[in-house]
Amino acid sequence: KMDAYIKGLMAKMTLDEKIGQLNLPSIGFDVTGPILSQGVEEKIEQGLVGGVFNTYTPVAVRKLQELALKKSRLKIPLLFGYDVIHGHRTIFPIPLGLAATWDLPLIQKTARAAADEATADGLNWVFSPMVDIARDPRWGRVSEGSGEDTWLGSKIAVAMVKGYQGNDLRKDDAVLACVKHFALYGAIESGRDYNVVDMSERKMMETYLPPYKAAVDAGVATVMSSFNEINGVPAAANHWLLTDLLRKKWGFNGMVATDYTAIMELMNHGVGDAAEVSKLALVAGNDMDMVSDLYITQLKKLVQAKKLDVAVIDLACRRVLESKYRLGLFDDPYRNISEARAQKNIMNAEKLDLAKQAAEKSIVLLKNDNALPLKAGQKIAFVGPMVKDQRDLIGNWSGAGDWKKAVTFWDALQAQYPDNNFTYAKGCNVLDNQELINKLNPHGAEIVLDSRTPQQMIDEAVATAKDADVVVAFVGETFGMSGEAASRSDITLPQNQQTLLKALRATGKPVVLVLMNGRPLVLQWENDNMAAIVETWFAGTKAGDAITDVLFGKYNPSGKLTMTFPRSVGQIPLYYSAKNTGRPMSEEKYTSKYLDIPNTPLYAFGHGLSYTTFGYSDIKLSKTTIKATDNLQATVTITNTGKYDGEETAQLYIRDMIGSVTRPVKELKGFQKVFLKAGESKTITFTLTNNDLKFYDINMKYTTEPGDFKLFIGTSSADVKEAAFKLL
Ligand code: IFM
Repeated sequence: KMDAYIKGLMAKMTLDEKIGQLNLPSIGFDVTGPILSQGVEEKIEQGLVGGVFNTYTPVAVRKLQELALKKSRLKIPLLFGYDVIHGHRTIFPIPLGLAATWDLPLIQKTARAAADEATADGLNWVFSPMVDIARDPRWGRVSEGSGEDTWLGSKIAVAMVKGYQGNDLRKDDAVLACVKHFALYGAIESGRDYNVVDMSERKMMETYLPPYKAAVDAGVATVMSSFNEINGVPAAANHWLLTDLLRKKWGFNGMVATDYTAIMELMNHGVGDAAEVSKLALVAGNDMDMVSDLYITQLKKLVQAKKLDVAVIDLACRRVLESKYRLGLFDDPYRNISEARAQKNIMNAEKLDLAKQAAEKSIVLLKNDNALPLKAGQKIAFVGPMVKDQRDLIGNWSGAGDWKKAVTFWDALQAQYPDNNFTYAKGCNVLDNQELINKLNPHGAEIVLDSRTPQQMIDEAVATAKDADVVVAFVGETFGMSGEAASRSDITLPQNQQTLLKALRATGKPVVLVLMNGRPLVLQWENDNMAAIVETWFAGTKAGDAITDVLFGKYNPSGKLTMTFPRSVGQIPLYYSAKNTGRPMSEEKYTSKYLDIPNTPLYAFGHGLSYTTFGYSDIKLSKTTIKATDNLQATVTITNTGKYDGEETAQLYIRDMIGSVTRPVKELKGFQKVFLKAGESKTITFTLTNNDLKFYDINMKYTTEPGDFKLFIGTSSADVKEAAFKLL
């Protein structure tokens, strides 16, 4: 039916109209790239636009859709895309925080809720999930992804695609998801945004590509090609990537859009002039041109000059029209948008509850020397630029989120503990440089610096601290310090905040550190000097409530890191699934190590404490020798050995001891979340299948090899029990 409909429609289209369907300009509220689209409304009337992004609300969407439906010759409805990344209006924790929940159903629910709000706001396409595996925390965009692990990242990719698209794309609360950035964007050299990627095929296939593939297998409707080059060929001009791999090998049959002005940027990459790069991008497999306006200015001329086969344009046009058809846009271009629906569905109680739950579960307790949980009767000094902060709570890529609706920690604290013995001092600005703050937050300088001198602020904070039983310092990055175009070479806390922490430490009072930030930070001094450290990321609309609940023990923290926190920038890239090398680290001189720091991270992948403690029994295996057709059961008993009820995420890793190619020292292959009352024990069983033991062998065949394996189960990648088995 779809084929016949689209064939019929395309038979009526002029070449200009077909090319028009490939045009994706930005119009509306946000600017997410270096230039702005011009004359979009006129182009819509002329049939020169296939979809727009950055426009939402029923009123704004209806206005543009009406232009397409009433003024353009063929009345083809528009797609409406937007960066709905971690919630639309109700903002959930940043994706790196959401990943730290290790809660796939919850993550899926957040995507579903985001789709429900986005569609009520007129959108039908979201530029999410971002599934770029990232192992360099200098890159600001690590905040937008799920972290360093391929297996977990793939599961999260699937959960998000399912959440956004629902069971039926034609339903008015479903959106096209867009897996991005295809591909390998997370592996850019030196963590500097938009930089190059040079990678072996093995590493691609094994580590970086599986999450995109998982999204494709889950039925993701669209793909965004990435800014980076891959082995000398920019992704946006990469036929191998976008056609041979994505479509032919993986069977993707949806639509590919470029990233913002990526076709134009091919000229900077140095692969051609305007005409050449337009042809390269189209032939490579990019169906829609985001903002470059090059398809509409170049493709027709190329056809006329007989340099481009019109069949390539037809193919791309068909894919765009198919996406619209799958959404049901030809039957219902407005998809039931109304102010009433928006009012009912957006930021309703159910979504706010979900935001609170997600925020609580995303928080990771990095260290605790019994300073937490706090007790309401204590005399507590809350110090730091983030105590009353509201602007940063919803983090980056939260375009339609209203930061003024976010619950601050201070407000939540006062609401929950009105009769308190709490004091406050700001202590320092988030950064000392207003110009830099404005640059980091180009949409308006909402963060205004305190006019007092740094010393005056510290003096006040120290006096406040001296008068308290315990100090809780709220520090971190302002939200513009992570996200796109926000790479940092130094990922410690800003200097002025470090000065404040040192002054607080010198009071001799126990200092609890509460962090808000969008990436793993280097926290060696803090780890050595603070009594407890709580990572809250940018926890979203309900951040304040969630942080209060965690600090006072109403919610026992359960988040686990999905990205390693290094001791020093010099260790980067640092990730748990490393190789052993020929000279694994030891006390001997000629081994793989640094002279000045250990090889180990400060906080390992999977790390996250609780107010209680969990004991693991030894692992029991169903067999110690298995055949390729066998499943293997691994059983452990976990006991809550502390005083609080709590949730543990038990993680299962394997190591293939000998292979035709070297294998990582650990690979995550499973996890289970277990809630245990204080003193309670539960026995859990993991089942490993042959598939879990596969890898790309010396001939790049995805297979298993017989031999010895180790299996680990534990509370983090660095704290596990161990067993061994053999595959025949
Ligand atoms: O979706 C984003 C992408 O992640 C980065 N560049 C801009 C796009 C659209 O806003």
